[in-house]
Amino acid sequence: MNYKVIFIGLLFVFALGFVSAGSHLVSADDDFDKKYEHHEGHDKDEKDYEDIGKTVGWGTAAAIGAAGLIFPIRRSTKFMVKNFPDRKKLFISLSKFFGKYHLFIGVIALGLSITHGVVMYLDKGELEGEGMIGLAAVILMAIAGIVGAVLFKNKKAKTLRTAHTGVIALAILIGLIHIFAS
Ligand code: HEM
Ligand code: HEM
Repeated sequence: MNYKVIFIGLLFVFALGFVSAGSHLVSADDDFDKKYEHHEGHDKDEKDYEDIGKTVGWGTAAAIGAAGLIFPIRRSTKFMVKNFPDRKKLFISLSKFFGKYHLFIGVIALGLSITHGVVMYLDKGELEGEGMIGLAAVILMAIAGIVGAVLFKNKKAKTLRTAHTGVIALAILIGLIHIFAS
């Protein structure tokens, strides 16, 4: 049990490191554009606020990716076990691991997306086009989360599973459009 907690902690640290490195690269370009857009320049604190918001945005994307791993893992386990029998133990434990922590990672993803949305909204002071698209993704994720909570109590309900997966797929698609539009 303990080594799993350590593993998930490490994953989180790696994701954060990756995310903050990425956000510095992205914000480096943005600084350049912003100086042209706002001649008076950005207040330093305000800039920090935006950077934090963007970093949390990338953290949201990483958490959604980690929660979504359950899908390819579940779908490929049979195939993998059949074609790589010597790796059977590994695939089964991966499947169990991501199954066990799915709900936890999913709730973190939802929490991060809301935090990111609130920080971005406070930074901009209004909900622009890309913010609206982000908001649509968060609303869909929250709906999928509620369906997921009911599914948790009744794992055999196929309709709930399909609904959870379908709504999440739509949220991911809209989330991607939001990232490309930002
Ligand atoms: C699933 C939900 C969401 C995800 C995965 C997400 C992800 C991201 C990411 C990764 C960025 C950074 C893009 C960059 O570095 O240029 C970003 C930017 C942004 N997001 Fe979100 N976001 C989500 C929801 C929201 C919500 C709900 C709002 C607003 C209420 C929002 C408002 C913004 C704004 C204003 C930007 C910055 C645009 C810019 O000036 O570059 N996002 N988002
Ligand atoms: C917000 C909180 C969330 C809750 C409460 C939740 C809950 C659940 C539950 C209880 C299951 C059934 C697991 C099992 O069979 O043992 C499930 C399955 C699933 N979830 Fe979530 N989930 C959440 C977020 C997410 C997110 C963010 C994603 C994708 C990025 C996601 C994608 C999936 C998929 C694809 C399945 C179906 C796996 C299969 O094919 O059986 N969920 N979820």
